[in-house]
Amino acid sequence: MSIMRFSVPREIIYGEDSLQHLSTLKGKKAAIVTGGSSMKKFGFLDKAVELLKKAGIESIIIDGVEPNPSVKTVVAGGKKMSEFSPDWIVAIGGGSALDAAKVMWCFYEHPELSFEDIIPVGSMPALRTKAKMICIPSTSGTASEITAFSVITDTDNHIKYPIVAADMVPDIAILDPALPACMPPHITANTGMDVFCHSIEAFASTAATSFTDPYAIEALRLVIQYLPVAYKDGKNMEARTHMHNASSLAGMAFTNASLGLVHSLAHKIGGEFGVTHGLANAILMPYIIDFNRKFSDKYALAEKQLEVHDIAETVRELNKKLDIPLCFKDCTEVDFNEEKFKSVLDRMSANAHADPCTLTNPGQPTVADVKMIYEAAYYGTKIK
Ligand SMILES: NC(=O)c1ccc[n+]([C@@H]2O[C@H](COP(=O)([O-])OP(=O)(O)OC[C@H]3O[C@@H](n4cnc5c(N)ncnc54)[C@H](O)[C@@H]3O)[C@@H](O)[C@H]2O)c1
Ligand SMILES: [Fe+2]
Repeated sequence: MSIMRFSVPREIIYGEDSLQHLSTLKGKKAAIVTGGSSMKKFGFLDKAVELLKKAGIESIIIDGVEPNPSVKTVVAGGKKMSEFSPDWIVAIGGGSALDAAKVMWCFYEHPELSFEDIIPVGSMPALRTKAKMICIPSTSGTASEITAFSVITDTDNHIKYPIVAADMVPDIAILDPALPACMPPHITANTGMDVFCHSIEAFASTAATSFTDPYAIEALRLVIQYLPVAYKDGKNMEARTHMHNASSLAGMAFTNASLGLVHSLAHKIGGEFGVTHGLANAILMPYIIDFNRKFSDKYALAEKQLEVHDIAETVRELNKKLDIPLCFKDCTEVDFNEEKFKSVLDRMSANAHADPCTLTNPGQPTVADVKMIYEAAYYGTKIK
């Protein structure tokens, strides 16, 4: 057996009011990175500044990180950090803010680097010579607070780059359920189904191990039980706490075991039609589970451990409870017209087949298989 690595943050602080942990940090200066407005609007940004002040830490705010953060944003953020010289980077917000902060941190540590320098896997030099990193997620979905990944977009060329480096796993993750409790129901549903997808894909991945499987199964168990509750009653703190923890548990599984074909197809249909990531995953999952089943006994194992009859059917039932359509044809979030679908299908199928997530899918599909799955998920036909 080859030598393997399992990386997770050094500390995960969780539970109601865990944001308070900021007041116990040791340090002098913090750069707080956040998105557009939700953290300011709900008072979490001011609270973070105040808690850091209590710890004797002076802070600056780098705000305005856009959804799908751009190269420009992360380069500018790195420069602001260099001017201020913080010893802590504190990222607070959705996956976009957390991802942007991770790469700003790289440029602060190594101002001589360009974005092109850090694209190849294995190219990232050591971090933590100047600062350590804390991530405080406000959505329960991407698990950027756990992972070695950051997704940055080259807006000039419309390309999303996954940056991968074990050193980018944050030092501390703070999981305070008060933050995701402000999410509206449709974001709760979409990000929550992304957690389901991270878990089932990490569990069935060809890179899954005894270190990753328990996290994936526990995350699935929590999502099945608590996502419908959090969707119906956003202020139910028990459900929010379990969903926030589930997101990080799934992150511990997929950052180490990688993902599969659902993410490959979701990335490309998202690129073509602009459909939200978690929503695309939720629609695609049952079709791909049905397709993959013949290549892996992990679905039967998950069903046994979760005590469900058919995990693809579990996803369909969850989708119904969350008002998520069962096929793209019925999706109203974006305009999925049939003519456009047919005209992009070949290109989209070839691109999805080439996505890095396909590498760890159980069984290697052909481009024709990918096209058949897209068609089934568009029209709602069952894959046998
Ligand atoms: N690093 C990773 O491992 C990883 C994994 C998957 C995806 N991603 C990336 O993460 C990004 C998506 O992150 P996301 O799904 O968390 O969404 P996001 O950060 O883009 O935020 C989506 C929207 O929700 C709002 N929002 C966030 N938290 C809120 C709250 N508590 N209450 C009300 N509104 C809130 C934001 O203001 C924004 O408008 C993408 O760029 C994606 O590529 C990263
Ligand atoms: Fe995802």
